[in-house]
Amino acid sequence: MSVKFLTNRTLFQKFSTNLNKRFLATVSTTSKLEDIYDIVIVGGGIAGSALACALVTSNITKLQKRIALIESSNISNIREWNPLQGEFSNRVSSLTPRSVQFFKGVWQNINEGRIKPFSDMQVWDGISDARIQYNNESDKSPLAWILENYNIQHAILKTLDKDKSIIDILDNTKVQDITFDKESEGEQFDLSDWPCVELSDGKKLKARLLVGADGFNSPVRSFANIESLGWDYNSHAVVATLHVDPNIENKTAWQRFLPTGPIAMLPLQNGYSSIVWSTTPNLATKIKSISSKDFACLVNAAFQMRVADLEYFYSQLGSNGSVDLQSDFEWRKSVQSKNSDPKEAFPPLVLGVQDKSRAGFPLRMRNAESYIKERIVLVGDAAHTIHPLAGQGLNQGLADVQHLLKVIERGISNGQDIGDVNLLREYSSERYLSNLVMLGVVDKLHKLFCTDFTPTVLVRTLGLKTLNNLEPVKLVNLTRFRSEWFYNSPIYAINTRLYVS
Ligand SMILES: Cc1cc2nc3c(=O)[nH]c(=O)nc-3n(C[C@H](O)[C@H](O)[C@H](O)COP(=O)(O)OP(=O)(O)OC[C@H]3O[C@@H](n4cnc5c(N)ncnc54)[C@H](O)[C@@H]3O)c2cc1C
Ligand SMILES: *[C@@H]1O[C@H](CO)[C@@H](O)[C@H](O)[C@H]1NC(C)=O
Ligand SMILES: *[C@@H]1O[C@H](CO)[C@@H](O)[C@H](O)[C@H]1NC(C)=O
Ligand SMILES: *[C@@H]1O[C@H](CO)[C@@H](O)[C@H](O)[C@H]1NC(C)=O
Ligand SMILES: *[C@@H]1O[C@H](CO)[C@@H](O)[C@H](O)[C@H]1NC(C)=O
Ligand SMILES: *[C@@H]1O[C@H](CO)[C@@H](O)[C@H](O)[C@H]1NC(C)=O
Repeated sequence: MSVKFLTNRTLFQKFSTNLNKRFLATVSTTSKLEDIYDIVIVGGGIAGSALACALVTSNITKLQKRIALIESSNISNIREWNPLQGEFSNRVSSLTPRSVQFFKGVWQNINEGRIKPFSDMQVWDGISDARIQYNNESDKSPLAWILENYNIQHAILKTLDKDKSIIDILDNTKVQDITFDKESEGEQFDLSDWPCVELSDGKKLKARLLVGADGFNSPVRSFANIESLGWDYNSHAVVATLHVDPNIENKTAWQRFLPTGPIAMLPLQNGYSSIVWSTTPNLATKIKSISSKDFACLVNAAFQMRVADLEYFYSQLGSNGSVDLQSDFEWRKSVQSKNSDPKEAFPPLVLGVQDKSRAGFPLRMRNAESYIKERIVLVGDAAHTIHPLAGQGLNQGLADVQHLLKVIERGISNGQDIGDVNLLREYSSERYLSNLVMLGVVDKLHKLFCTDFTPTVLVRTLGLKTLNNLEPVKLVNLTRFRSEWFYNSPIYAINTRLYVS
């Protein structure tokens, strides 16, 4: 047993001093003291590392907690992230004002030149062209901030690395199994109900509280025997970094709902945007493999062409270059523009796509049947996975982290065991309903828009059109939910009209 370790770290909370003495007296036989943690976080994605960072910087948790963060991948490339000017990772997120506020301690380490706040948004329907614009001239405070996931993770790690003393960051380390170590049963200090995390390097860590921040396939969730409920959309999201017309002001987020799924273009910088294009798996495979030139043209078509024209474009994909999509696009556009409303704005023209930036993700909806069990708690995608059409997945995960931190702080202040399921229940009762509502709303939006069935098109058109004409309704509702991008967005407004009222 390491004496140095004992002086460096206070393992247990103050209230448990007596327990602590008893424990120290008997610890020798089974668990090594340095392998016993107050909190073990499995998963160093954004949710897991944000939690670690919040615990390490909180005045209440930082002095009394021993924390481990375990991540299977090698994070040194994120630590050393040094991006080239004019190149952007294809994984970007939109963070709501609330998430940005939560990150205030981390923000000083963020690469400011690579964040794009936006205050304008345009959402429209592919079939009817009904459109919602959100552009408040007198209030230009951002609706959301677009930034690369690496930028966030790099800033979190930089903040964490300053506070190494109470946290062990174990990367390149996979959690292989989680068990209950029955050996310690019957000893004076009984750790048999503490989860024991077995790592790929052979170590075993005991956790007073085990946090599953380990993503969609969460091993912690499986260990806890918590079912994950939901379904797979027959849909893939293709992401890419685009080169767009640098002469157009790049301050708007655009989203068009096509029958195959929504396509969204988010501003990154002058001349650069990111897309998330949800479509059928078959089309996703094709658009990932066509030439850069055809891809750029197809994205332009997806934002600007009528759905029937777009379907013709799809049918030409993979016909080995015999069709010139670009000239076809220009021709169709010239015909179309004679009949269309000149006020209908489109996103900046796509000129090209960054090399190797195209990637696809299957889209799914899941919610764990519970977020907690004795000594176990789930956060982020381990707890819930959502369609990206409203850009809410990570924001929900960060709200989880924020609430979990509060509950852990409250537990410590009240002298409770932070692994106690009664304490953790405060977290789950706060987060479960709120996540479920968001999952339901986004799922309904997906179903409502991804169809060309006439009555639905009619209803959604009425919803969009009425809303854009009824200024007072929009104004009040958009202002009321100022702090929450989603609730603040036209998407919410559309949904409210169609489902609530
Ligand atoms: C195309 C697309 C666009 C999106 N856009 C947005 C957006 O604009 N805004 C937004 O809020 N959200 C967005 N999301 C959702 C967002 O990306 C996710 O919700 C978020 O990244 C989940 O973070 P997480 O930390 O919970 O999980 P993950 O990022 O999945 O992290 C889990 C971590 O656990 C580790 N791990 C897993 N198993 C083990 C193990 N056995 N041992 C050790 N480590 C393990 C993994 O290596 C991983 O690093 C988008 C998603 C997609 C697919
Ligand atoms: C992790 O990645 C870094 C840089 O890419 C590399 O130098 C290092 O050897 C890797 N570590 C392991 C254990 O693979
Ligand atoms: C625009 O912002 C101002 C200031 O916040 C607010 O008073 C007004 O209601 C907003 N209007 C719209 C269009 O949301
Ligand atoms: C694009 O955005 C950048 C950063 O916000 C801004 O400085 C620039 O002026 C914008 N470009 C144009 C053409 O307006
Ligand atoms: C190219 O396309 C034409 C017509 O679609 C087809 O007849 C021909 O076999 C294709 N060639 C290759 C090499 O795939
Ligand atoms: C905002 O939307 C809600 C839900 O549709 C509606 O009941 C309410 O009347 C709207 N707000 C105002 C003040 O118009």
